[in-house]
Order: sequence, then structure tokens, then C-alpha cells
Amino acid sequence: MPFSEDFLEELSRRNDIVDVVSGYVPLTKRSGANMFGLCPFHGEKTPSFSVNADKQIYHCFGCGKGGSVINFIMEIENLSFPDAVQFLARRAGMEVPEDTQDVNRGRRTRMLDLNREAARFFHARLMEDAGRAGQAYVDRRGIRSMVKPFGMGFAPDSWQSLTDAMTAKGYTRQELVDAGLCRVGKSGGLYDYFRNRLMFPVIDVRGNVIGFSGRILDDGEPKYLNSPDTLVYSKSHSLFALNLAKKSKSGYILLAEGNIDVVSLHQAGFDSAVASLGTSLTADQARLLARYTSQVIIAYDNDAAGQKAAQRAIGILQPLDLRINVVKIPGAKDPDEFIQANGPQAFRNLIERSGNQVEYRLEQTAAEYALDTDAGRVGYLRAAAKLIASLPGSVEREIYGLRAAEKAGVSPEAFKLEVERVRKQNAAAARKQRDREASAPLRAVQPQSRELRFENVRSAVAEEGVLNLLCRFPEQFGAVPLTAADFTSPVLGGLYEAVTERLRQGRSVSLAALGQQFGPDELTLLAKILQHDEISAPAAQQAMGDYINKIRAERDRATRGQDLRGYAEKLKQTKGYGS
Ligand code: UTP
Ligand code: MN
Repeated sequence: MPFSEDFLEELSRRNDIVDVVSGYVPLTKRSGANMFGLCPFHGEKTPSFSVNADKQIYHCFGCGKGGSVINFIMEIENLSFPDAVQFLARRAGMEVPEDTQDVNRGRRTRMLDLNREAARFFHARLMEDAGRAGQAYVDRRGIRSMVKPFGMGFAPDSWQSLTDAMTAKGYTRQELVDAGLCRVGKSGGLYDYFRNRLMFPVIDVRGNVIGFSGRILDDGEPKYLNSPDTLVYSKSHSLFALNLAKKSKSGYILLAEGNIDVVSLHQAGFDSAVASLGTSLTADQARLLARYTSQVIIAYDNDAAGQKAAQRAIGILQPLDLRINVVKIPGAKDPDEFIQANGPQAFRNLIERSGNQVEYRLEQTAAEYALDTDAGRVGYLRAAAKLIASLPGSVEREIYGLRAAEKAGVSPEAFKLEVERVRKQNAAAARKQRDREASAPLRAVQPQSRELRFENVRSAVAEEGVLNLLCRFPEQFGAVPLTAADFTSPVLGGLYEAVTERLRQGRSVSLAALGQQFGPDELTLLAKILQHDEISAPAAQQAMGDYINKIRAERDRATRGQDLRGYAEKLKQTKGYGS
């Protein structure tokens, strides 16, 4: 185990979860031991994100995320477990014990070194005479001036050149494969993953080369090859060129689809362009963006797929309270093509004319209805009211309401009434949902993560109950007459084993301490289980007995079922029935 338990306990004590969370989320409501605020991990208008000071856990009734203060920092700051620990240690002015530091740190540094060497290698290949093919391509695309700033390179048309060069520098087979730079061939030898491609290193905001993206030089397939996710690279958490864009003084970030778009935009003076690599925008990437800017201008491709992706991106960016604009690119496939054809100034005009996301979506909505018919206008009015009702600011609702009313051909007052109706409906639905979840009796809802789904929900309810009572009232229970094998859910059984082991050793049960043993999915589940406090101390003994009986009854039912099935099988065989 990389960190000692004492250290983690101390870390959690010195980083009170209410303090830490309050730095990100205003906790505006209180209900018992829980403070509530708007969830930072999903979009919502009524608070369902709760923090419990007694248990030092957070849990969102809306999206289901939850865990300890360490999980919270991992999630919101986009950090690994060890990095989140470092982060909190710094916050509390604590030293991280040297000898217990992250075991992966060494491997990670080696991989980053290897990536940097590989980027140097590719860059050198592009600059030398033998790299003519790459240079010709760069010139054909008109992006030569960006080769240096982006550290672009060329992967030669050969099976072994990178493998040989990196092996000569002392990197092992395993390291080359782990970094996603080489593959193992049928004969067991290594071969270069990137061949005959224009190479774009992916560089994080700290300047580390974390991965690569390689474009083929002709119309072959696949057009782009991307590094797989590795110890240092997670595609869904990274943005191409954010290392450059974060220095921009433009006040916004331009979000494009393609690598070449980004390069072309930078060359044209738009130094805040970034792209997600080979994936559509993720919530993690959106949060990363929100750390560097308060305005995102989407400049996706001009085709139907691009427009659809833009709508999706808006949905992901909107909860983060960013100003969002969408550029429409007339007469060209993408920003690169537009700039190559019309020049930088023309693109600047497009940015200046870009509609904000509300205008953009209202326009898209209008296009879906035949506004010259009554039915079309009614349909538009409903859809537009729904959209406007979701806007947080009353000024915005007023302004866009006026426009939409005009378009729908109704009075501003009538339109406003419709918006208010939808808002009331939304608020009531959200309230109901939260009340239902907050006051639900202890009941197993399937965990967030698909891998952890319960086979037998009836038994899982009781299994969760046992865990809840054990963690909340450890002093009340001696040895509980159950083993992990009695649990139908392996994940609940595993948690039970860890919890009882800790209690046997006379140690406290804290999510922070369990954090090393279990992944975020398991911890989210445990946090959810601990959140329930319907059963009070005096009722705990009785409830524990009921849970144990339930678990046994379910187990007996299951074995009886199996015996009966086995018996039926035997009958069939002896009597010669069936197949
Ligand atoms: P595009 O096909 O729009 O790429 O894919 P582009 O950058 O405009 O390329 P050019 O102009 O044809 O050279 C957009 C992005 O989708 C990912 C890449 O990140 C690419 O930049 N992609 C595309 C892949 O990951 N794999 C592919 O095979 C294609
Ligand atoms: Mn393109």
C-alpha cells in the first residue's frame, strides 16, 4: 500500500470535507447533518448534492456520485488518487512521507521521458532529408510555420525505426509497449505502432508529452491513429493544444474538431484553439476547459455530424456556467478549409458574428417547425419555452423570450406564461425526485457502475443494510454471523470483508482509509450506503437481525432453487425425457 493508513486518516482530519467542498460549491441549504448545494458534476437547478460533516462524505442524489474528500478532489480536479492526496496534503500543509509515495511514480516518470524522446525522434525525422514525404505533406496543408510550436514530427515508413532508436536509449520492450508506441507482432518481435504518419504530440498543461496522434499522408485508413490510454494518458481527460491555448490572451477558448483545424487556427492567429482527440467532448474535458476560460466558442465541422456534436457539446458545457458561442462556417467543411480559402480576417468576422448558444439553439429549433402554420408555431412555442425555461438568469429569459415570442407570433406575455408554467413543472419534478430519494427507506438501487450490478436485489438491500449499520454503530455489534460468501453481491461482500477486518483490528472505518483498497465505483457505492440514516441507534440491533435473516432466507431460496433444478434434471435423465 502506497500510503499509510495513519497518514490518510490524518489527511482527512485536516481537510474537513465541508471546508474543502465549500471552496468549489456553495452549500446553501441544511437538512439535519447534511448540507446541500448544486452538484458540480452534473447540471441541475435545485440542490441535490449533499455533504455530511459527521460521516465526512459527499453524495449527489441526482447523479449518484459520492465518496470521501479524496474522491471529491480526484473528481473535481481531475487527479489520480496519489495526486489528490498530494493536493490535499499541500492544502493542509502536511508533508507526504517520502517512502510511502506513489509506487507508480517511477513508472510514470519513465513513460513521460520515453514519450519526450519519441517526440524528439519524430521531430528530427521530419526535419532531415529523409523526411521529405512529411515535409511535402506539411507544405501541401500550408502549416509549415506551426511545425516547431506544435513539435510536429514524422514517423518514417518503417517497422522498426522508433523501436530501435528507443531500445538503444535503454527503454525496455515492456516500457515501449506500455507507452503505446510499439506493438508485439505475431513472431513476438516489436514493431512501431505509428508508421508513415505526420505526428502530433499531445502535451498536457504542465508541458509533458502524454501521447500522440498521427495523420496518414494519403487517403488511407484510418485517417488518424491515436495513442491508447496509458498510465500517463487518458483521452477523455485531455485536450489537444491546451498547453498552448492556456497562454492565450483572447479571453475565450476555441473548440474545434480536428487536429489540423487547431494547427491552422493557431497559424491564423487564433492561439486559443483546442480539440478533443478522437472522442466527442467529455464532461471531464469540459471541466478542464472551465479551469482556463469562462467562454467557449465552438467551431465544429459544417456537416450534420459536426452540428450534432455541437449540440451535444453545448449540453456538456452548459452546467459549468460558461458563456458558449457557436461559429457557423459557410461554404467550407471545417475551420481549416475556411481559413485556407478566405484568410484569418474572414474567420475573425465569423467569430464576431457567432451567436451565443441560446440563439443557436433557438435557430435550430425554429428550423424544425413550419412557422407559417398554426400547428408549427404552437410546436415551436412549446419547444422554445422549454429551452428558455432552462436558462438560469431572468434577464436572459426576458430577452430571448421576447425574440421567441415574436417568432412564434404570440404576445410576450403569453410566451412568458408558458415559460413560467414549464419552470414550475421543472421545479416540482426536481423537488419530488429529491424528496423521494432523500427519504427513501434503505433500498438497493443498482449502483452507478454497470460492472457492479446486483444479481439479487432483495438480498442486496439487506447486504447494504448490514454495511450501513456496521459502519454507523460499530460499538453495537460484535462479530456479525455472516461471511463475505453469504453476500450475493461480490462488491458488497468485498466491502463487508474490509470493514469487518478493520473493526476486528479496532480501527475506524473511514472512506479515506478504504480508498486505497477500492476503486472509485466501489467507494461511490459505499458512500451512498452510508448516507442513509433512517435507522437510529436504538433500532439498530433489531434491524441487523432482520437483515441477517433476509440474507439467509434469500440464500436458502437460491440453493433450494438449484437443488430443485438439479432434481428435475435427474428426473429427466432417468425417465428419458427431453433431449
Ligand atoms: P476530421 O476527419 O474532421 O479531421 O476528424 P481533420 O483534422 O479535419 O483532418 P483533415 O483536415 O482531413 O486532415 C476530426 C478528428 O477526429 C479524430 C481526430 O482527432 C481528428 O482530428 N479522428 C478522425 C480520429 O481519431 N480517427 C480518425 O480516423 C479520424
Ligand atoms: Mn479538415
